[in-house]
Amino acid sequence: MTDLKDVAIVTGAASGMGEAAARLLMDDGWPVLLCDLKTGPLNHDTKNAGGLAEVLTADISDPDFGQTLLAALSGRRIGALIHCAGLSPTMATPEHILEVNLAATIRLVNTVRPHMAAGGCAVLFSSSGAHILGSSLDEQINRVRTPEAVSSLHALATDSGSAYTISKRAVMLLVEREARAFGTSGARIVSLSPGIIDTPMGRKEMEQQPIMHKMVEMTPLPRTARPEEIAAVAVFLCSPAASFITGTDILVDGGKIAVLVGAARQDDLSGLGE
Ligand SMILES: NC(=O)c1ccc[n+]([C@@H]2O[C@H](COP(=O)([O-])OP(=O)(O)OC[C@H]3O[C@@H](n4cnc5c(N)ncnc54)[C@H](O)[C@@H]3O)[C@@H](O)[C@H]2O)c1
Repeated sequence: MTDLKDVAIVTGAASGMGEAAARLLMDDGWPVLLCDLKTGPLNHDTKNAGGLAEVLTADISDPDFGQTLLAALSGRRIGALIHCAGLSPTMATPEHILEVNLAATIRLVNTVRPHMAAGGCAVLFSSSGAHILGSSLDEQINRVRTPEAVSSLHALATDSGSAYTISKRAVMLLVEREARAFGTSGARIVSLSPGIIDTPMGRKEMEQQPIMHKMVEMTPLPRTARPEEIAAVAVFLCSPAASFITGTDILVDGGKIAVLVGAARQDDLSGLGE
């Protein structure tokens, strides 16, 4: 089992759900290693964490990020990884989205796997968008097993929106493939698919994609979620209470996909407009 001397790593820890997860982990007494491109709110938080919080300002898509991370761990085991860092459709080109959301995630999983504590868990952030995409491209996506092979998806990812959903579907499939390898050391790996969340990223997407407002209205819980509502699930997944959950995706979307799947079954997506 993990003990609280094992480290919890959070990527994307300066904003949104990563920041919320970092706070919950620190409240629970975890030693945390908080990674992000930017430091602002992290530095403030860590002053109150009694030396148990370290900040790693780095780009997860830097090919050397794994080495930097291992140096910061200095031999300690990983009890939890909550991997939130990512780019949404309006933030970057298709190629850059695939690089950060997928190639960097494959490299990160390869880096952490040998250093996971027994009972530890890696939670990789996917998206409910990957559920909307469905399984039609799974065969092609599942062939991508290395960071170098990610470029083979450029032909499928013709715009930033499709690059985003393909990258997040690939994260779900990565988790399915990795469960056995993580299990050999008694560790777990899970993907977590949020619906529409009230974070800087979520707000930016809602401003630029009006269809997201309709999706919120159609959802059984017709609101966006607070980042803490998703972070709480991520922290639960890293706890002993989730000790038999691995190799799967956990959808936390207020019921959005249930409605969309139901509408698709009835061939009635008219409520979603174009
Ligand atoms: N907000 C939503 O509605 C929503 C919905 C579904 C899935 N997600 C996913 O959840 C995760 C967290 O989203 P959020 O809304 O909290 O986002 P956010 O934009 O609020 O925070 C993301 C953080 O990741 C960091 N980051 C981005 N690229 C990085 C890089 N290359 N290296 C290091 N850090 C980097 C950013 O600096 C930022 O602090 C993302 O993977 C996102 O795709 C978000």
